[in-house]
Amino acid sequence: MTIHPAQLRAAADVLRQAQRLVVLTGAGMSKESGIPTFRDALEGMWAQFDPEELATPQAFQRNPRLVWEWYEARRLKVFEVQPHAGHYMLAALEARLPQVVVVTQNVDGLHKRAGSTDVIELHGNITQHKCFANCLGDPTLLNIATLATDSVPPHCPYCGAYARPNVVWFNEVLPMAALERAQSLCLRADVVLIVGTSGIVQPAASLPYLAKRQGGAYLIDVNPQRDELAPLCDLFLQGTAGGVLPQLAALLEQSEG
Ligand code: OAD
Repeated sequence: MTIHPAQLRAAADVLRQAQRLVVLTGAGMSKESGIPTFRDALEGMWAQFDPEELATPQAFQRNPRLVWEWYEARRLKVFEVQPHAGHYMLAALEARLPQVVVVTQNVDGLHKRAGSTDVIELHGNITQHKCFANCLGDPTLLNIATLATDSVPPHCPYCGAYARPNVVWFNEVLPMAALERAQSLCLRADVVLIVGTSGIVQPAASLPYLAKRQGGAYLIDVNPQRDELAPLCDLFLQGTAGGVLPQLAALLEQSEG
């Protein structure tokens, strides 16, 4: 897995001049923090668990306790891990470029913890909870620290429905405002940096197509494996987020020195 130095320099040159940068991240972004991806053949979450049993509203209705406990275990894991050098590199780009927005499919909140200030969470946030019935509007966020603990899952104090994680499950629509803002940013972006996504799950996977075909953006893809978006991209940097992004940061620093 090697990247030609000329490719890295080309990516750094493009980033240095970016006016409106969108960074699109997926599970590979968090892997070096210790959070497994979904589709890696052996260790990916969907290699070990069936999403139909755990990540759909129907699964929650069938077996709310199982789904709740699976998400609780993942939620607690998120508090044990830390952002890595790649997350910090993306946050530091904000000081260098006029506009940097991170559009993430990850639900772990690591971009914000690393200091990124403009983060669109397309698939929600696992550290938050909401009412399953969204009785006061979508999302009806609940603070689980304040919920009665006599049932698993706990109940919404407003309507009595179960509480659930504030994540997007299969068969659900994405938060509309988040998706629309991501689409409009992609249309206006001059550079899109894609990190650690298989590019399979819609509608997130369509954002780079929008940026390229309708907006004419320059696309850079960072992934240890060629993913579905690689053929669309101007530059494919074969490597990990924690390896490649700090190298790009070093090149950006050099050019300023
Ligand atoms: P996937 O698990 O589908 O893909 C992870 C990608 O990260 C793969 O292309 C890997 O090659 C790459 N990868 C692995 N290690 C990496 C590393 N250290 N650095 C960079 N890249 C690495 O994850 P997503 O594309 O995020 O949805 O999946 C999209 C959605 O599918 C998720 O948000 C989730 C899932 O079902 C929901 O939960 C709604």
